[in-house]
Amino acid sequence: MCLVTVQVRVWRGRHVILAVSSCSAEYLHRNFIVLSQEQLPTAGVKLNDLKMDPSSPVSPATILEQTALRLGCSPADKKLAFHLDEEDELKHLRECFCVPKVKDLPPTDLSLVDGEESCVYFAGNSLGLQPRKVKTYLDEELDKWARTGVHGHFNGQRPWALADECILDLMAELVGAQRHEVALMNGLTVNLHLQMLSFFKPTPRRYKILLEARAFPSDHYAVESQLRLHGLDVEKCMLMMQPREGEETLRIEDILAVIEKEGDSIAVILFSGVQYYTGQLFDIPRITKAGQEKGCFVGFDLAHAVGNVEIHLHDWGVDFACWCSYKYLNSGAGGLAGAYIHEKHSQSIKPALIGWWGHEFKTRFLMENKLQLSKGINGFRLSNPPILLVCALQASLEVFGQTTMKALRRKSILLTGYLEYLIKHYYNEDKTNPGKPFVKIITPSRIEERGCQLTLSFSLPIKSVFKELEKRGVACDMREPNALRVAPVPLYNSFRDVHRFIEILGSAITSSKQTANNTALSGSY
Ligand SMILES: Cc1ncc(COP(=O)(O)O)c(C=O)c1O
Repeated sequence: MCLVTVQVRVWRGRHVILAVSSCSAEYLHRNFIVLSQEQLPTAGVKLNDLKMDPSSPVSPATILEQTALRLGCSPADKKLAFHLDEEDELKHLRECFCVPKVKDLPPTDLSLVDGEESCVYFAGNSLGLQPRKVKTYLDEELDKWARTGVHGHFNGQRPWALADECILDLMAELVGAQRHEVALMNGLTVNLHLQMLSFFKPTPRRYKILLEARAFPSDHYAVESQLRLHGLDVEKCMLMMQPREGEETLRIEDILAVIEKEGDSIAVILFSGVQYYTGQLFDIPRITKAGQEKGCFVGFDLAHAVGNVEIHLHDWGVDFACWCSYKYLNSGAGGLAGAYIHEKHSQSIKPALIGWWGHEFKTRFLMENKLQLSKGINGFRLSNPPILLVCALQASLEVFGQTTMKALRRKSILLTGYLEYLIKHYYNEDKTNPGKPFVKIITPSRIEERGCQLTLSFSLPIKSVFKELEKRGVACDMREPNALRVAPVPLYNSFRDVHRFIEILGSAITSSKQTANNTALSGSY
């Protein structure tokens, strides 16, 4: 018998031998796939090898470790970040955006950082960066307005009266819908109300609305007020799903169990696509199917999902959905929102409130006051489209048009996986060292259950960590009670951004720990 030591790595789901101390070549080749270190680069684990397919055994951590091994460095070395950026086929898209300089962010402390550097912008989950083309498109329309006044309504490449329709194809593509199933109008909350007015028709048997206990406040208030509008008892009719005791996110089996148990009395199920606080990506097709099998309408607030994850509203049969465009769609604060209704409802679901923009285009301007309602979501449009908001959204959607959500998602999985890897590498809780600060990731670790955002909680006071990050040129956001949301966005963030964030987080944690120690010391006197 001979004793051999082998260095084995999992590569593309198979065990690969990288080094062997003593063993016969014949034995090795009979029992293993053998690759030398030199062969690995040619066999190259590319970003493209990373699949969202849950059955794929290749995890971001494996890719990162393999790539670091090829580079001969630790996965925590910034050499890996530079390499991944080099390999990134979408890296040119960053140039389409204005990335703020550190010195221009109000909380920056210039005694701590180089103000000329680009900031680490991880706040795309809140407000996306400005696409460079926005100014050009706005200027074009302002100029047209100045030169031609009212003639702009039906002239030029973006006739104002049809402006929203000029970008519908790009928008519909991102949510996996047919063009006629999508409208661009209003703000998210307004659209949610308009849709609820038509989908929530309570009867004595079916009168409840199911939503998450920690839904975004606007959704919560919208549901509450819709129930009140029908004179219903909010306590009885608003079914709110809580995570299990001691857990932060909802389990799909629990959601399905509630639908199974309560479904007969539920009129509408309203979930977010990606949860704003935890970053959890819900299983939209399964929730939709389960709800519809029980006779419920199923709708989604896609504020944090659109432009972040792949969405196939039409194929999944989702009844209705709405979203804002200022987060991952980069249309600027208060940007033009989207709404979708599946074509299967185009004859049966009518708007409760009607304006002139819901009237068929062909006869709209005859002003006869005899309504010819457009079908489906188009009948829900109330007012003429805001051209300046369309310009901003167009600039962003055209950047998305240069790639696909599949490609963005592929990069996103690795980018966020890299962030997760480094956080765990440096800040896992060490029970044997209770004084060591640690970071907990609230967002699910399964890639199918999250988008690009990670939500973090800290063993140190979060306000202090957040403040220290902001002083050093990181843009991210803090949410009460104890969450820091960080979103590396594949359209414009780089692997180097992630590495820089981790470096800065190190300084922020050291400084926060120091402050906490000083406070404790001064408190003891
Ligand atoms: C999940 C979610 N829903 C609704 C809203 C409210 O959107 P609006 O103010 O555009 O109506 C937001 C805003 O951030 C949100 O994150």
